[in-house]
Amino acid sequence: MSKLNILLLGSGGRESALAWKISQSPRTARLFIAPGNGGTDAYGTNVALSPLDFDAIKAFVAENKIDMIVVGNEDPLVAGIYDYFASDPVLVVGPSKAGAALEGSKDFAKQFMVRHNIPTARYESFTAANIEDGYRFLETLRPPYVLKADGLAAGKGVLIIDNLDEAKKSLAEMLGGMFGASSTTVVIEEFLSGIECSVFVLTDGEGGYRILPVAKDYKRIGEGDTGLNTGGMGAVSPVPFADKEFMDKVEQRIVLPTIKGLKEEGIIYRGFIFLGLINVGGEPMVIEYNVRMGDPETEVVMPRIASDIVDLLEGAAKGNLADIPAEHDPRTAVTVMAVSGGYPGSYPKGLEITGELAPAESILFHAGTRRDSDGRLLTSGGRVIAATSYGENIADALAKSYKAVEAINFDGKYFRRDIGRDLMK
Ligand code: AMP
Ligand code: GLY
Repeated sequence: MSKLNILLLGSGGRESALAWKISQSPRTARLFIAPGNGGTDAYGTNVALSPLDFDAIKAFVAENKIDMIVVGNEDPLVAGIYDYFASDPVLVVGPSKAGAALEGSKDFAKQFMVRHNIPTARYESFTAANIEDGYRFLETLRPPYVLKADGLAAGKGVLIIDNLDEAKKSLAEMLGGMFGASSTTVVIEEFLSGIECSVFVLTDGEGGYRILPVAKDYKRIGEGDTGLNTGGMGAVSPVPFADKEFMDKVEQRIVLPTIKGLKEEGIIYRGFIFLGLINVGGEPMVIEYNVRMGDPETEVVMPRIASDIVDLLEGAAKGNLADIPAEHDPRTAVTVMAVSGGYPGSYPKGLEITGELAPAESILFHAGTRRDSDGRLLTSGGRVIAATSYGENIADALAKSYKAVEAINFDGKYFRRDIGRDLMK
């Protein structure tokens, strides 16, 4: 059995869960996390490198004999990290820059779906040059109106507006630079009504793929899905409505045409595809593609992968994923995110975190945490720590996660108490 030195890029709860899983593999020799957080050092060695500083990463890879780079967040992928290392022997798990455009440009993603007959909301794209056409397109749609900045906008680039005049005004504002260069092009699409879920696929660019456990995340800050959007307040896996019949449709109508489409178009893609789906009366439709794992979905998906993740990641990077099993753990997993008071608005940082940091019945995945020079654990972000638990069902797993979140202390701690409630009806 060959062992690999692995460099994982990123610093959130997602990377904590990936590091946790990678560190359990007998195939991992050394694991480095760049830059990591106050919890990832339990699974490997944190290194102070920016995931966007490719030259520094290259030097680190050479110095530490890294065999495989696993990219957690989208920014390095959209900036072309796969292509940067294309002629280097190190394996990179992720899409090429051309593939990362599935997340980096919503207009590209929509065109790709139309080309390959993948079910998604009807849409058109506009720039300042044809804003009048945009107004006319809005007039053909029924409210609410969905306006999306074409480029990456840190999860903030989507507006859903009830009133036609306001939608027109927002279109003008977006094209006028509301999200900077990200909204130079705006996608306007039909509103779809249904319940969302996240499907994750690992693919090797050669037609081999594995569908990972399906999850649902909770994006809004407030209970009952109210208030501002956040990076994600909790997640559940599996998702009861994503049953065999639904997942068969997802595989046939979305996963296979996506993989085939990438290949046909000559787009190199050896990494995770995140399908943001909506269930419209039993029919899956694509809301968005992302080119990485989800956060906090990863905090429930990794615990539900029973197979060796390093085998799977290596299979994706080398092009032989069809030979590698991806068994799912039958248990339910939930995660509840403890966040800083004030988040997703402004919030304090540097508050000491105390309490039970090694609970018996849950796994704590650190997100916005860091250690000071005395080893004290401090908050360093909006989303602070996710508590993941297994259970026989959602309620059982949730009871453990709530207990774990309650046992952590920092000033202003907040969490939602209704994670998974919509799935338990
Ligand atoms: P996105 O960044 O594309 O995932 O959009 C953010 C959120 O906006 C999604 O998670 C959905 O809740 C919502 N959304 C986006 N597009 C639509 C749509 N066509 N119909 C209904 N809701 C949407
Ligand atoms: N949980 C949604 C995302 O990672 O984009």
